[in-house]
Amino acid sequence: MREMPDSPKFALVTFVVYAVVLYNVNSVFWKFVFIGYVVFRLLRTDFGRRALATLPRDFAGLKLLISVKSTIRGLFKKDRPIHEIFLNQVKQHPNKVAIIEIESGRQLTYQELNALANQYANLYVSEGYKMGDVVALFMENSIDFFAIWLGLSKIGVVSAFINSNLKLEPLAHSINVSKCKSCITNINLLPMFKAAREKNLISDEIHVFLAGTQVDGRHRSLQQDLHLFSEDEPPVIDGLNFRSVLCYIYTSGTTGNPKPAVIKHFRYFWIAMGAGKAFGINKSDVVYITMPMYHSAAGIMGIGSLIAFGSTAVIRKKFSASNFWKDCVKYNVTATQYIGEICRYLLAANPCPEEKQHNVRLMWGNGLRGQIWKEFVGRFGIKKIGELYGSTEGNSNIVNVDNHVGACGFMPIYPHIGSLYPVRLIKVDRATGELERDKNGLCVPCVPGETGEMVGVIKEKDILLKFEGYVSEGDTAKKIYRDVFKHGDKVFASGDILHWDDLGYLYFVDRCGDTFRWKGENVSTTEVEGILQPVMDVEDATVYGVTVGKMEGRAGMAGIVVKDGTDVEKFIADITSRLTENLASYAIPVFIRLCKEVDRTGTFKLKKTDLQKQGYDLVACKGDPIYYWSAAEKSYKPLTDKMQQDIDTGVYDRI
Ligand SMILES: *[C@@H]1O[C@H](CO)[C@@H](O)[C@H](O)[C@H]1NC(C)=O
Ligand SMILES: *[C@@H]1O[C@H](CO)[C@@H](O)[C@H](O)[C@H]1NC(C)=O
Ligand SMILES: *[C@@H]1O[C@H](CO)[C@@H](O)[C@H](O)[C@H]1NC(C)=O
Ligand SMILES: *[C@@H]1O[C@H](CO)[C@@H](O)[C@H](O)[C@H]1NC(C)=O
Repeated sequence: MREMPDSPKFALVTFVVYAVVLYNVNSVFWKFVFIGYVVFRLLRTDFGRRALATLPRDFAGLKLLISVKSTIRGLFKKDRPIHEIFLNQVKQHPNKVAIIEIESGRQLTYQELNALANQYANLYVSEGYKMGDVVALFMENSIDFFAIWLGLSKIGVVSAFINSNLKLEPLAHSINVSKCKSCITNINLLPMFKAAREKNLISDEIHVFLAGTQVDGRHRSLQQDLHLFSEDEPPVIDGLNFRSVLCYIYTSGTTGNPKPAVIKHFRYFWIAMGAGKAFGINKSDVVYITMPMYHSAAGIMGIGSLIAFGSTAVIRKKFSASNFWKDCVKYNVTATQYIGEICRYLLAANPCPEEKQHNVRLMWGNGLRGQIWKEFVGRFGIKKIGELYGSTEGNSNIVNVDNHVGACGFMPIYPHIGSLYPVRLIKVDRATGELERDKNGLCVPCVPGETGEMVGVIKEKDILLKFEGYVSEGDTAKKIYRDVFKHGDKVFASGDILHWDDLGYLYFVDRCGDTFRWKGENVSTTEVEGILQPVMDVEDATVYGVTVGKMEGRAGMAGIVVKDGTDVEKFIADITSRLTENLASYAIPVFIRLCKEVDRTGTFKLKKTDLQKQGYDLVACKGDPIYYWSAAEKSYKPLTDKMQQDIDTGVYDRI
């Protein structure tokens, strides 16, 4: 028998022809013979084998897509704001525990939580707040954080979720760009707000309200006044619907100031419900929230499960590796979220009995890398990992629906799937970040087996595929590419490089710009971080390129936080062998900095830009020990003032 040409298009056409024939054959016997024949023919082609192998996954994906889309389209028809969806949950199980705050031990049922939200809403009505006004929420994880924004959403007031780790300039910037009328904070964070105000960074017109039980006598305490306000639903607001703006969530880049992204009611619900459906989150789940609720991970996908599924949330103010599994046991947690850093902290923690006793069946999030995936699920006995990839503001998200190690999602390998799902990969020049374009000026889509930037097709007519953008128009423009697949089209640029393997699984590779050139080669910071981060003594490691005197390109540098009590000499020897074993010589970091004090962004990540600015300058690094790589001896040596000078001037260049 002749081989079928190994072209996906040809295979598809053939398949469709077969399907049509099959449909028209009446005899069961001949049907079976025919199916057997088709499968046999398909298996003789490489594409056919891959297509058959991935069929169950693609089917599951399609089912999910249809279910999510039909739910959301149904809600668009009703066009009601999100709190009414929450009210349905309240009506169904008013006395079910909705939310528990670990530190205070406070817990509220659905009915009580809704009553609290109503009091906040009614208080702000009495303050004269109207639809479209903005209130900045500068608070830590708490019941009130959720109750306040839910309450404000009932009267059309938009909440701006401010990163509670911010200080001075970035804090003031975040508050300023939200154009808020007032800010709600608490007694712990008030000093940060005041410090920024004393430097005239925050306008005096922005009032401050205090949440929480502690007061200072000078600022209005919401808690003290709440009892004056009704627990009944606030007045219904005309024009408040599923398309209204709900909140601003800031994307916390490691560069530049935080940018607020506009989150509308439907988008909030869509993300929460989509992620939840993908991983089977439901009413019986107890969701443990340890990540900051001002980010979309915990703020939408975590706490949003109350609205979308009616589950129970257990909130901890800050992630704590030593309490993690204890909390999970104590509160019967069944599902919780992660980011790569959390997984590494948990793996680095000393074993405890609770890590085997808990009932957590699902952990979902982003950044569990292939290198530690198996160790992680093995040690903690997690049945399902829901790795997903998406951005707060982007119009496209992908999920790993079938526990495939290391993947953050998939795209079926059939061609032209784009019209069904808007995600694509396109080729970019990794060194410059420029898009590759063909002779017609269009971008070059990747095929399975290739690596490129992920983009989401924007369709202005389809509300689900629109890109809502940021509060600032300029920021929005920067994230859009034009003339990509055809002239006049637009896509959302994710800024992330993904690899698409032969079976259609997608793997996160890099942030664009997270590569640098050294000795004429491209070094991926993520790859080097992937080598360092699993090391036992490493609490956190980040890799970046620094300029060295007149040398071309950038030399790799690793900023590492080691655990207390680490034997540094042994540690350097350990990582030396790990790095030399795993990396090409040009990718081995030229400098190692052992950071004592760490300035972290809200998501636990070491701040790359600051580290990069300080480079290997001993003064700028404020006494952190720095080691340099001696290529001749293949080992790290402590950097001295004299050596720093020699490297700067090029006297020593054997790095
Ligand atoms: C915020 O706005 C105030 C008043 O409009 C201004 O004085 C201040 O410089 C701004 N702060 C920042 C960080 O942009
Ligand atoms: C719902 O959640 C419970 C508790 O985690 C779990 O046991 C059950 O399998 C889930 N149901 C579905 C359909 O995923
Ligand atoms: C956890 O589950 C056990 C048994 O199922 C139950 O006795 C206990 O009350 C639950 N604890 C909490 C905090 O819900
Ligand atoms: C490095 O990246 C540039 C730009 O993407 C590419 O042209 C070049 O071939 C790459 N070099 C290597 C050695 O991979």
